[in-house]
Amino acid sequence: MTEQHRFDERIAQEIAIEPQDWMPDEYRKTLIRQIGQHAHSEIVGMLPEGNWLTRAPSLKRKAILLAKVQDEAGHGLYLYSAAETLGCTREDIYQKMLDGKMKYSSIFNYPTLNWADIGVIGWLVDGAAIVNQVALCRTSYGPYARAMVKICKEESFHQRQGFEACNVLAQGSEEQRQMLQDAINRFWWPALMMFGPNDDNSPNSAQSLAWKIKRFGNDELRQRFVDNTVPQVEMLGMTVPDKDLRFNDTTGHYEFGEIDWQEFNEVVAGRGLCNEERLAAKRKAWEEGAWVREAALSYASKNVA
Ligand code: ACO
Repeated sequence: MTEQHRFDERIAQEIAIEPQDWMPDEYRKTLIRQIGQHAHSEIVGMLPEGNWLTRAPSLKRKAILLAKVQDEAGHGLYLYSAAETLGCTREDIYQKMLDGKMKYSSIFNYPTLNWADIGVIGWLVDGAAIVNQVALCRTSYGPYARAMVKICKEESFHQRQGFEACNVLAQGSEEQRQMLQDAINRFWWPALMMFGPNDDNSPNSAQSLAWKIKRFGNDELRQRFVDNTVPQVEMLGMTVPDKDLRFNDTTGHYEFGEIDWQEFNEVVAGRGLCNEERLAAKRKAWEEGAWVREAALSYASKNVA
């Protein structure tokens, strides 16, 4: 039996592929791309929320937000570790992100303008991330699947604290309710874009589904998110900014309007509202952290027996 044959059998039988196992080069490359992009998203994703750490409206909200932002850092580190099991180094893929040669999620290129944005990010953005990541708990590469299990538990806390913060605003003053609706209006469509292009325009989906790296197509997961979330918007007494949204009694799903793919493509190409600001912040942090890395390496070398 050839290596390829053994690999195909493991995929067919849902036996996880582990770092020491033989795998096709393209499978390895796809995983480094996806896990690397995912890790970068967690790290860049700390910025829009970090922006509100000093302005959270109460000590309770500040403590929750600090915990959440720290969790995102932890998720990034797990994911870089998972990527490294495939033979890349985190320095290399991190540098590619800083150089604009590796992507991170489009969603983090939108600004956080008011406090409601922080609730809405927890609720909608982490909510969308969970739909995608629960599916990845059964991805075929063992280290990625295992990282996802812990990450999903933490994302679930993020989503709930976000909904709770939104619920408080929804029951507040007219001004607070308007602030919440404004945040929903700005984040609804970008949250739908997180799932990626339609399946017909997704160059990686067919092969990733065959390898069971992805367990569902982009459109199916996006539909799942819309079906889960529209009733929550209604529960808050808010509206979805989509005139084409309607529930289809026959299919049991919500139908929704067309995503602005031009906006999506612009953001992914680096021309969104905050792309430059986000990368500049990460480059500055990398440069200013040079002395910490040097000190840590020096300390480690002195402690080698
Ligand atoms: N933002 C930025 N880039 C995107 C996005 C997005 N929302 N959606 C798709 N892309 C990129 C893909 O990375 C791919 O890029 P490349 O081939 O040039 O490297 C290209 O657009 C085409 O898309 P697909 O063929 O559909 O790509 P893929 O099969 O990788 O599917 C998806 C995209 C669904 C995002 C997948 O990579 C995935 O599930 N990733 C893991 C989850 C993740 O990264 N989440 C990040 C946000 S969650 C969070 O951090 C809280």
